[in-house]
Amino acid sequence: MDMQSEKQPILKVAHVKKSFGRNQVLKDISFDLNAGEVLSIIGPSGSGKSTLLRCITQLETLDSGFVSVNGKDMILAGQTKNGMAKYAQASVLREIRLSTGLVFQNFNLFPHLTVLQNITIAPIRVLGMDRPAARNLGLELLSQMGLENKARAYPCELSGGQQQRVSIARALALQPKVLFFDEPTSALDPELTGEILKVIKSLAEKKMTMVIVTHEMAFARDVADKVLFMDQGVVVEQGTPEFVFGQSENERLQTFLARFSG
Ligand SMILES: Nc1ncnc2c1ncn2[C@@H]1O[C@H](COP(=O)(O)OP(=O)(O)OP(=O)(O)O)[C@@H](O)[C@H]1O
Ligand SMILES: [Mg+2]
Repeated sequence: MDMQSEKQPILKVAHVKKSFGRNQVLKDISFDLNAGEVLSIIGPSGSGKSTLLRCITQLETLDSGFVSVNGKDMILAGQTKNGMAKYAQASVLREIRLSTGLVFQNFNLFPHLTVLQNITIAPIRVLGMDRPAARNLGLELLSQMGLENKARAYPCELSGGQQQRVSIARALALQPKVLFFDEPTSALDPELTGEILKVIKSLAEKKMTMVIVTHEMAFARDVADKVLFMDQGVVVEQGTPEFVFGQSENERLQTFLARFSG
């Protein structure tokens, strides 16, 4: 890795705005993330956290602002069309899409495919990987997730925690540069939550760059290099976990955090 690419943020988000009809959901969101860092995003329901992740991962289009991933610009800076942001050409968007992964709250596994097929389908179809190589990769990832004995099971035969570990393996199979999690544990019982948090922690130790939307405040504090607090479509506070959870005197943040310390 050359010096230049180490210094550039791997994810750059600047002045992102997004409305649904008259409802402006993202009002002006900016943050940077360096390679190997973990960002936790916290904030009340409806504050725009999922919308932000969906805009960055191209499941949703943004109205204006700038996003770059791994040195590739998703938006053509300074250019607009009918007042809206202009996106980069399709091949660049595809490349950016392939460099991001998203893990959903509800796992979203393909129910008619086995666990192993769920993991290998994208490497085979999207990356053109040959089947034996994809299979080896899939088995390797399953063993990392402690699920080597579930390769031939179907998603409905797994616990929620196991399904979520499969969906993390599936995201990792495309070797993303940045991995996004949208409340990865909120559909899980407390004991299954722990196993997912452990997996995410181990990815952080391996210096996987991650953005994690979570309501698990202790985890958000523990795993993150940076924490961002969103409320009503704006970044109200961001900084180190020590600052956001310990020192900030922001009133909206205090009110939000008080709800979790009961
Ligand atoms: N596809 C959509 N069409 C219209 N409105 C939407 C759409 N998606 C989200 N919204 C609205 O955008 C706002 C923000 O929603 P979003 O899901 O981003 O919030 P969130 O912070 O992820 O909340 P939660 O913590 O409950 O998951 C909400 O008012 C929601 O109703
Ligand atoms: Mg959400």
